[in-house]
Amino acid sequence: MTAEKIRELVSRMTLEEKASLCSGADFWHTEAVERLGIPASMVSDGPHGLRKQDQEGDHLGVNDSIKAVCFPAGCGTAASFNRELLTEMGATLGEECQAEGVSVILGPAVNIKRSPLCGRNFEYYSEDPLVASEMAGALIQGVQSKNVGTSIKHFLANNQETRRMSSDSRVDERTLHEIYLAAFEGAVKKAKPWTVMCSYNKINGLYAAQNHQYLTETLRGQWGFEGYVMSDWGAVNNRVEDLKAGLDLEMPSSGGSNDRLIAGAVLSGELEESVLDTAVERILNIVFRYEENRDRNAVFDRDKDHETARRVAEETIVLLKNEGVLPLSERQKVAFIGKYAAAPRYQGGGSSHINSHKITSAVDAAAGMDNVIYAQGYDDAKDATDEGLLAEALQAAQNAEAAVIFAGLPEKYESEGFDRPNMAMPAYQNELIEKVAAVQPNTIVVLHNGSPVEMPWIDRVKGVVEAYLGGQAVGGAVCDILFGRVNPSAKLPETFPRRLEDTPSYLYYIGEGDVVEYREGIFVGYRYYDKKKMDVLFPFGHGLSYTTFAYSDLTVDKERLQDTDTLRVSVDVTNTGAMAGKEVVQLYVADKESTVIRPVRELRDFAKVELAPGETKTVTFTLDKRAFAYYSVKIHDWHVETGEFEIQIGRSSRDIVLTKTVTVESTVKLPVVYTTDTTMGDVRRDPRAWKVLQETVTGGMFGPEPEGERSDAANEALSDEMMAAMIEYMPLRGPISFGAQMTMADVQALVDRLNALEES
Ligand code: BGC
Repeated sequence: MTAEKIRELVSRMTLEEKASLCSGADFWHTEAVERLGIPASMVSDGPHGLRKQDQEGDHLGVNDSIKAVCFPAGCGTAASFNRELLTEMGATLGEECQAEGVSVILGPAVNIKRSPLCGRNFEYYSEDPLVASEMAGALIQGVQSKNVGTSIKHFLANNQETRRMSSDSRVDERTLHEIYLAAFEGAVKKAKPWTVMCSYNKINGLYAAQNHQYLTETLRGQWGFEGYVMSDWGAVNNRVEDLKAGLDLEMPSSGGSNDRLIAGAVLSGELEESVLDTAVERILNIVFRYEENRDRNAVFDRDKDHETARRVAEETIVLLKNEGVLPLSERQKVAFIGKYAAAPRYQGGGSSHINSHKITSAVDAAAGMDNVIYAQGYDDAKDATDEGLLAEALQAAQNAEAAVIFAGLPEKYESEGFDRPNMAMPAYQNELIEKVAAVQPNTIVVLHNGSPVEMPWIDRVKGVVEAYLGGQAVGGAVCDILFGRVNPSAKLPETFPRRLEDTPSYLYYIGEGDVVEYREGIFVGYRYYDKKKMDVLFPFGHGLSYTTFAYSDLTVDKERLQDTDTLRVSVDVTNTGAMAGKEVVQLYVADKESTVIRPVRELRDFAKVELAPGETKTVTFTLDKRAFAYYSVKIHDWHVETGEFEIQIGRSSRDIVLTKTVTVESTVKLPVVYTTDTTMGDVRRDPRAWKVLQETVTGGMFGPEPEGERSDAANEALSDEMMAAMIEYMPLRGPISFGAQMTMADVQALVDRLNALEES
């Protein structure tokens, strides 16, 4: 329906009808207005499968939903670093939604993994905003290609579950832009989600739902968002103010009470009716976009989609460690040990919980293989070592040529609604791994978890496979990787630190009461570990393959550029091994010298390439201003500081293999305001200002006094360099106290001259 027709429709609605459109009719539907032909529209969770509830609605994963297909969760799909794959997964979800009459799937969830402890990390993509927004954008494009909407969530700075409905994320402006907003920004600008879901929490004292700055100025004004903003379920705190701030749809429903508040506010003049009209137009625009593009022939083919889920899972499994034990051979006697081999932990708890139509475990997938035996090893329902199961497992391990232990976090350890208290795996699993490794030299651990865990046994096992929460087909995918039928190609979208105490937010997470200060600022994940040169268990971007890749010929199309130019970077990647495989080429940019505090390097692009043995491909990236910029709080915008930058191609943030230096010139001069407190050193940055200063300040220690004229003792006590350093940090008012012939009025006059120069 055209914008004009929608406006015309809104003009025919009563005030009450318009107000009613601004909140849900029930848990999952928008209101209908039958007399005007406005249908109710259904939304459903997401994000890694369809959680459509036909019966009793809830947002906590309590009541049943229809049988559906559970894809790998965000933690895993991000590890694929494969945009095309996420688009394909999105298209599959979109098709499922069409078949089920769902207009918007509630996801993807892009919140930054600020700490490994966040209970919902399994749904989230990364500690890095570029990875989060690129992967989300790819998924959104896929879903929306089927004329079904997405709801990128949870906007904004919602990085913990503790007190999620009242916590106040205190984040400085630069950090918000570089890390937390950036996770949404690229996806909103490029993939244009139909809707955005606003989070529960406050941001710097104001509820996200009430935050005009982010919901309207940033989202719509700067990023060009055109859909509707819906609240997270129960995130509305002040309906009228929220509507003014840009929150269009309240979910699920206030039973009409908030609708009456809206109507009342219009009648009393507190709320301009045009604000309400705009919100209704935005909602109807999406309702009709879906309605008019319904695909009545769409089918939800669960078996077919299960196979897609398996292919996605194959690319989400990260080979973390391999000391010559993998791939296993089909002739080798292998013991699968651990309950998760037969009953995999493949999804997290809460609103994203899918009612899987079938589950393939590793034991199922190995059903036809005579060389594989299984021992349960532990019972995660007991939370303690089961001596009988342990003994059986040790026996199986001893009788085999390799042991594969399926371990990880039990479902009750990570879920929506609460955070983990620590990064440990259950003690009974750690004990099992230690004991099996003691009797079987070829021990491999397969992990099922949504967020990093500590691995106290790391040096005693030869292989570690991070399977994340790989969806309902995970068992087949894991077996394919273990036996080398598929070459692993995923990379960590987050750092695995050695221990919780090493994490950047450790001192402040999860805040004091409702106040959560993000004191680590921009130093989240590898931005922190790399700056601290800290030893980590596995770095950001790490992931092994069964083949080897060589990098060569890093070239740039120019060595000097302005920040308004783009830079083309290309690099050759060759498969130097014997097996076909995929490599994730990671491009980082490092600012060589900067007056602002910056990370050592930041990921600025990545590409996944498939290479046959011996094959070489050239990968090309195009970088623009943002690749070199930081967010300047002086101009409230992105800024590049003139100077040298290193383009780094890496296998991980810790394994940079090729570099090239370029010089970028800024076309924007940051405004300088001189005061009597400005230091001499800061004046020196501008040669014109420095000249004026030298002409003005004379006498005493500032007068011309060649070194030769000072006594030897004086020179020894204060060399020219020391003198220069002292003057560097001397404020403009300083010379008055040290013998210059100046008064405060003279200094003020100097300041005025300098400021005039700035403006000229
Ligand atoms: C979650 C959202 C979810 C919504 C609806 C909320 O509790 O935070 O992610 O989409 O419920 O189930």
